[in-house]
This record gives sequence, C-alpha cells and structure tokens, in this order.
Amino acid sequence: MLAIIGGSGLSRLSTLDIVRREVFRTPYGEPSGPIVFGRLCEGPVMFLARHGFGHTIPPHMVNYRANLWALREAGASGVLSVASVGGIRADLVPGSLVVPHQILDYTWGRLHTFFDRNDEAVHHIDFTHPYDEALRRRILACAERAGEPMRDGAVYAATQGPRLETAAEIDRLERDGADVVGMTGMPEAALAREIQLPYAAINVVANYGAGRGDSAGGIAFESIEDVLHDAMARVRKVLEHICA
Ligand code: HPA
Repeated sequence: MLAIIGGSGLSRLSTLDIVRREVFRTPYGEPSGPIVFGRLCEGPVMFLARHGFGHTIPPHMVNYRANLWALREAGASGVLSVASVGGIRADLVPGSLVVPHQILDYTWGRLHTFFDRNDEAVHHIDFTHPYDEALRRRILACAERAGEPMRDGAVYAATQGPRLETAAEIDRLERDGADVVGMTGMPEAALAREIQLPYAAINVVANYGAGRGDSAGGIAFESIEDVLHDAMARVRKVLEHICA
C-alpha cells in the first residue's frame, strides 16, 4: 500500500475516501499525527500530514524517524512525498511540478538515522540514487495520464530552516548544482532507504528562491499561498491516477 506524506499546502487529501484513522506509537516517539487510511481511485493508500494536521510542526522539529517507522508498521510498501520548494533553476518557476532525482543535504542537528545504537555492527546504506526510480517513473506516468506533466529530474537541496535562505545562499546552492530548495526532504529520504521503503517525491515550486524573480526584493508570502492552492489541486488530480 502506498503512503503519501503531505507537506505545506497538503495537510489533507480531500480526494481521499477515508476509511479509518490510526494513531501509531514508535520506539522513536510520536509521528506528526494519525495515519489516515483510505481509498484513492479505488486503491488503498495511507496519508500522513508531515507538519501535523493543523500545520504546527516546523521542518526541523518533524519527527522523521517516527513518521517513517509508523508508515512501515502500518504496512506501507512505498512512500510518495509531496513537498513545496523554492525554485532555483530558471525553468522551475512558481507553480511548476517536478520529480527530483538527486539530493544535496545541508540540514544539521536532526535525528537522521535509525542506526545510532552502539551495540550493533555499523551499518551504511547505499544512497547513490536517493529516490526510487520505479516510483519516480510511476509518478511521471500518472502525471502524464492526468494531463499535468511534471519535469523529470531536479537536484533538491535540503536546508535547515525554518528561515528562508539569503540571496547569497541561493547563489551558492546554484553553484553547488541545486535546482530546487526545500526544508523537509532530508533526513526523510535517507530514513526511508534505511528501512528499505522505496521513496520518491513530487516537488511543488511555491516561489522563486530568495533573490530571484519576484523574490528579488524579498519573498512574497501572500503569493505563495495562491500558488500552492492552485498547484496542490493539480497534485491531487495526479494522485487520482496513482493506483491505476
Ligand atoms: N526555501 C526553502 N524551502 C522552501 C522554499 C524556499 O524558498 N519555498 C518553499 N519551501
């Protein structure tokens, strides 16, 4: 059963035909909220709001370990993350939808691994290709079917937040090879890999990165809300095809 983690702008999946909600407890603490089980296009899916139902948990305070653990306990066979980002690459203007293929991690101080016990053999995961290619393909095919094509491939930079970046930081991210910037993609992707859950993401470009486009003079928060409202409606439309 596919699990969907919804980020900013998607704390509820209104198209989900809800069957039940369940609160999970994990050895790593409490997930962001109950897991909602339901049906989407006739197929079973589960949904978790990354920032909590009322959008109260900031990116650096999300219990990523508990979220991934709970989804696996609930029977998830893969995880599809929906996350809003700032656009850096010129074609990734606000409203764009993109399925990233690589990650740069700038986060710090987050509980980022399940392998932190010192009474077990040291464990390293392969993370060369951080996203599951089959799930990426499935998302792109659904988008095609829904008539909402998405860009295939972007380098996602995960920053610590919760503040947005400086213009110089966005310039540095671009020099590093980043195409989009968000605050929640790590350690989420790595934790999924650690427990062998195929993981892929849809990134929704909410705004130009700091110093770019209409963010040149500062980020316009008012327009972000409108952009996300419209773009998340398109994401929901794509997700309607995810079980086919
Ligand atoms: N920076 C980091 N995270 C974000 C942004 C941004 O500009 N927009 C949405 N999430």
